[in-house]
Amino acid sequence: ILAAQEGHEVSLVDKNHKIEILKAMQGDECFYGFGDKTGSLNKRGCEYEMWNTNNPAPQMENVKSLYKSVPFFITLREDCVFGLFFDNHYKTYFDMGKENASYYYIGADDGNLDYYMFFGENMSQVLEGYCSLTGTHELPPLWALGYHQSRWSYESESRMRETAARLRMLGIPCDALYLDIDFMERFKVFTWDREKFPQPEKMIADLKKQGFKTVAILDPAVKKEEGYPVYEEGAENGYFLKDKNGEIYYNKVWAGVSAYPDFSKKSVRDWWGDREGEMLDQGLEGILMDMNEPSTFDGLMPLDVVFDNDGSPTSHKEMHNLYGNLMGKAVREGWSRASTKRPFIVTRACFAGMQKYSMSWTGDNHSIWVMLRESVAQICSMGLSGMGFTGADVGGYGSDCSGELLARWTQLGAFYPYFRNHSSRPTRHQEPWRFGDETLRICREYIRLRYRLIPYYYDLFWQMAQTGLPVV
Ligand code: NOJ
Repeated sequence: ILAAQEGHEVSLVDKNHKIEILKAMQGDECFYGFGDKTGSLNKRGCEYEMWNTNNPAPQMENVKSLYKSVPFFITLREDCVFGLFFDNHYKTYFDMGKENASYYYIGADDGNLDYYMFFGENMSQVLEGYCSLTGTHELPPLWALGYHQSRWSYESESRMRETAARLRMLGIPCDALYLDIDFMERFKVFTWDREKFPQPEKMIADLKKQGFKTVAILDPAVKKEEGYPVYEEGAENGYFLKDKNGEIYYNKVWAGVSAYPDFSKKSVRDWWGDREGEMLDQGLEGILMDMNEPSTFDGLMPLDVVFDNDGSPTSHKEMHNLYGNLMGKAVREGWSRASTKRPFIVTRACFAGMQKYSMSWTGDNHSIWVMLRESVAQICSMGLSGMGFTGADVGGYGSDCSGELLARWTQLGAFYPYFRNHSSRPTRHQEPWRFGDETLRICREYIRLRYRLIPYYYDLFWQMAQTGLPVV
């Protein structure tokens, strides 16, 4: 209480989990996995929570929960190795010897004590066992292994074209350009801002002729607005999450007051996937699912918000961590109905098993040195949790980048499975040419090195698709 009074973050909640198991520590354990968590690779002595969270503050090594919840870890000891997957998507807790070095424990707010154990001769076999249960990434399209250039936002057709032209003029190889939220009309999903993007199909086709694929962001929340077909269809057909009185539940995201599709209902997944199919028909070649924790700008979503759960209604408390996976299922299935191409689908939030629908990135990092270092263990941890196709925003997303940081981060990012430079709206632009000739030269050299390594990476991605073993 004293520490809390001074403003320190302390949990005053009684650790009175509905379910808890405690296991004796033998003393030589190393723990790996847990999905997208910061800190060192070995999680011994650490404490984590699984509750998908959007927190734009710098995600330092003491953060307990981030956007993704993967309650799986591998225990490596001198004489044995095994994996444990806690199959519970309520909020779960992991104390890996922080409270007391002689034991570790796993707890949950609700649900069942179901867990799977995986045995093998080595970590690879353990991880393969976990992936045989939860799935593997598909082989992505070859271009996805190249360099991606993004920014929140290239907010008009001319900005997109300028960025493309600059990359080509400077001889920087690049396969993908991104449309962040400003391509939409007032942030309404499945719309285009026709003033800034008068001819999106032509723009996408022209960029394609220059060798760029266009990837667009897709947020789940739907603006509440009369006459907006996506909202009206959703409201008429009962496609949105409901409050405990059976009324549509609203919160706020970019577009203002918005409703949230209930992806736990098949008709909603089909509806959403068909809408996404229309985006692919316009020529887009990748979908980046953002804000699918789901994010709420006006307070937390109450735990009693009702999910249909394909006819067996249940609460947000049970479904929160699954929202990203269910959106991913909708988007992945919609992709197959609309396109014969291998999918490129990215997610920010998810639960265990998302690898069968989507790859991911680590969300909103910052342009600070510690986050460059941290990304290495973070990406390796994801790989040891079945989600090896991932990367951190190169150069850092929030805060202002510098030339030296961008050069070093591009040198590192050239080896990430997912190699994308991305930055936030209020920050300094950080494309490779923004910091003078030396930075440009270094970035270009390492982006070109990545391209020389692509045949090798492609093999690793193929192996990952077969076995689940990570690229890094
Ligand atoms: C949050 C995402 O993490 C970030 O990458 C994106 O640029 C912003 N949302 C705006 O869409």
